[in-house]
Amino acid sequence: MVKGVGLGYRREMVSMNKEILSANIDYVEVAPENWMRMNSLYQKPLKELTENIPLSTHGLSLSLGSPDPLDIEFVKNVKSFLDAYNVESYSEHLSYCSSNGHVYDLMPIPFTYDAARYVAKRIQQVQDILERKIAIENVSYYLSPSNELNEIEFTQIVLEEAKCDLLLDVNNVYVNSINHNYDAKSFIQAMPSTAILCGHIAGHYDEDDDLKIDTHGSAVKPEVWSLLEYAYQCHGVFPTLLERDFNIPELSEMLGETGQISAIQNKFSKRPSSV
Ligand SMILES: [Fe+2]
Repeated sequence: MVKGVGLGYRREMVSMNKEILSANIDYVEVAPENWMRMNSLYQKPLKELTENIPLSTHGLSLSLGSPDPLDIEFVKNVKSFLDAYNVESYSEHLSYCSSNGHVYDLMPIPFTYDAARYVAKRIQQVQDILERKIAIENVSYYLSPSNELNEIEFTQIVLEEAKCDLLLDVNNVYVNSINHNYDAKSFIQAMPSTAILCGHIAGHYDEDDDLKIDTHGSAVKPEVWSLLEYAYQCHGVFPTLLERDFNIPELSEMLGETGQISAIQNKFSKRPSSV
């Protein structure tokens, strides 16, 4: 459906609709749960925007790794939202955020065979209800509850067993590579090209030389731009979205960064891809 460059869209940005439409943005992305029960004050601008630009969705609360049963009612509500806005693409985090109640944070799933198979089954269940293939995103994490597998092996097993796609978040790879002392390029290289549906890029906070925090609250760092270029080199160009969740700047500043995504993409031949 979509190639090129995307921009994360938040409620704070509804006044930017006109500017977004006149910019070189190929798609926008929202968290469906933040818009499903919104009054017309927000639904109207989203509808107006998405009549003119494709929408992809990136969920926050599906809690794929949770020990709690999957929230079927929630998944059905997501399906209604996707159908109403004619959305093909829905991605979620390879993490969990609930256990007897929501914690509103993305917790790491233990890297074990059992957990990989458990999550893969839940992804299949979601895909069946949505009648769509979904994409899972590699998340940033600050503690690894089990190291029976490494992150690469865990992610590969989930992708294979669930037959789902991957949303490759390049900033998360960078942040994890510093915090957990692994080689970011090796991680990128090990991801299966055919599973990569799209990507994310974002800014992070340098707490220390060996501690980076995935904040989405500042400009993308040079090391992450280089890694995005490396990812295209390995896998070909895939649609890539700029995430910015805090300290939202003027649109012109974000467009500078989406322009940089475009410039890097233009260095490589585009492969046929969709969001
Ligand atoms: Fe992301």
